[in-house]
Amino acid sequence: MTTECEKFFSLKNKVIIVTGGGGFLGLGYARALAEAGASAVIWDTKNSAELEKLIAPLVKQGLAISADSIDITDETAVRSAVERVVEKFGHIDGLVNNAAAVAPLGGKEITDQFPPYEEYPLDLWERELKVNLTGTMIVTKAVAPIMMKQKSGSITNIASEVSVIAHDHRVYNDPADRRFKSIAYTTTKAAILGFTRQWAARLGSYNVRVNAFSPSGVETQAMPRDFVKRYGDLTMLGRMAWPGEYEGVVIFLCSDASSFITGHNLVADGGKSAW
Ligand SMILES: NC(=O)c1ccc[n+]([C@@H]2O[C@H](COP(=O)([O-])OP(=O)(O)OC[C@H]3O[C@@H](n4cnc5c(N)ncnc54)[C@H](O)[C@@H]3O)[C@@H](O)[C@H]2O)c1
Repeated sequence: MTTECEKFFSLKNKVIIVTGGGGFLGLGYARALAEAGASAVIWDTKNSAELEKLIAPLVKQGLAISADSIDITDETAVRSAVERVVEKFGHIDGLVNNAAAVAPLGGKEITDQFPPYEEYPLDLWERELKVNLTGTMIVTKAVAPIMMKQKSGSITNIASEVSVIAHDHRVYNDPADRRFKSIAYTTTKAAILGFTRQWAARLGSYNVRVNAFSPSGVETQAMPRDFVKRYGDLTMLGRMAWPGEYEGVVIFLCSDASSFITGHNLVADGGKSAW
């Protein structure tokens, strides 16, 4: 017997695209959506072999997950990918716009992507805007007509806590090492909120919902322990988020449990912005 609760959260027979689904959080979202009954379709710039390797254990478990090597900034490639999904499944019920140019803490890109703003290289600024905003626009623009025709769908734009607050640079090891959270990244994440509201206003009469999700930082093993402590101390819960902790939020926004929520920004930051 299916309970009312299961009906709200079930994603059975839904087809949901997750951009950046080959990444740290996106793969977890795709897995969780598939566990809730969806066919999850990953689009990521990682090559096909890498993507196949990532999803193989999940497919082996019986989860309906597929992956395609797609650059979301390539409008022609995105349009063909949408056509392929529609040909295969006949419908697209969810889109999680999760891909972004992210420099993981502990990684080597961090020094390039974290300079002081007055020295920020414009080519980097443009590259981040291109993926985080233009790419998100290209995918949304390609998927929206399918959802409008269906008169149903849910789009979730992954923003960040920096969509509503400034990043506190005191979490980094030493202010003297001049490390600042990318001005391009933070700017694009705030812009995603306006993007979300406008698309929600455009698609509401087609029964298509559009929401933003603003998560706080997730702890990884690569992060220096003192950084994790300082970052965690900024939240009311006294810690960073754990990997996997946002998957329920994404299921909620993609499912009928959130059927009257649109144009919203759901913030999951352990209370940081509510102090
Ligand atoms: N990790 C965090 O703590 C955190 C916190 C707040 C918000 N976020 C947001 O969550 C999302 C996922 O972050 P993550 O930590 O998993 O990052 P990640 O770098 O592990 O994943 C991002 C994925 O996007 C892919 N990608 C990049 N450019 C692309 C393009 N042009 N086309 C298609 N795919 C592309 C990458 O290959 C990568 O697999 C991002 O939007 C990020 O801003 C993350």
